[in-house]
Amino acid sequence: MLIFAHRGASADAPENTLLAIEQALIQQADGIEIDVYQLGNELVVIHDRWVSRTTNGTRLLSDYSLEELQTLDAGKGQFVPTLWQVLQCVQGLCLINIEVKGVRDVLLINECINKAVSQLGFEAEQFIVSSFNHHLLLAFKSIAPKIKIGALTASNPLDYARFAEDLQAYSVNADISFVDQNFVIDAHNRGLKMFVYTVDEPKDLLKLQAWGVDGVFSNGPAAAKLVLAVK
Ligand code: G3P
Ligand code: CA
Repeated sequence: MLIFAHRGASADAPENTLLAIEQALIQQADGIEIDVYQLGNELVVIHDRWVSRTTNGTRLLSDYSLEELQTLDAGKGQFVPTLWQVLQCVQGLCLINIEVKGVRDVLLINECINKAVSQLGFEAEQFIVSSFNHHLLLAFKSIAPKIKIGALTASNPLDYARFAEDLQAYSVNADISFVDQNFVIDAHNRGLKMFVYTVDEPKDLLKLQAWGVDGVFSNGPAAAKLVLAVK
């Protein structure tokens, strides 16, 4: 079962910062999950539309220029990085799940992935683009059919993983609160990978692994790996 560092290794460093990315690499996460918004023509790595929860700023993200945003303190001397800065930090060393939160121009994501493949040693197969916004995933798939997409759901779908199959997704990325073994079986029967968020509790990690879940998003990748190693 793959362990993705959720918002980087966010149990050990401020979420979605380069420190959290570096920690995820040190902890040998199989992949890193990050949240992305568009700001002007840039892609920035942050979870919320408001910057106040994760930085010392007080306004809407869209009120800032990139230069202003990057002067804010994201904790432990960190700043809000661009997607490109995160990819420069990772240098192709693990999988990357880009969760698209608020992006108008999906071409920007594709351009960034292509540039990472040509300049940073990534393979296109290392990327998964996920979103709760399934219209956006369809738009992305139409311009980048070879990049994997992950269909996110925070609520229990009526037909298990059917919505993700309809999107021709690579994976269904579901909240742990409603995932059961039948959901996992259904995803696999449809040829989909099953990823689950956010999983930190040892009993949950062991249960999901026993059900054949393909990957989990965990705030503490090293701790999660230890649980699975000593089961
Ligand atoms: O991508 C999985 C998970 O990160 C989705 O929820 O709110 O943590 O972005 P959230
Ligand atoms: Ca996320």
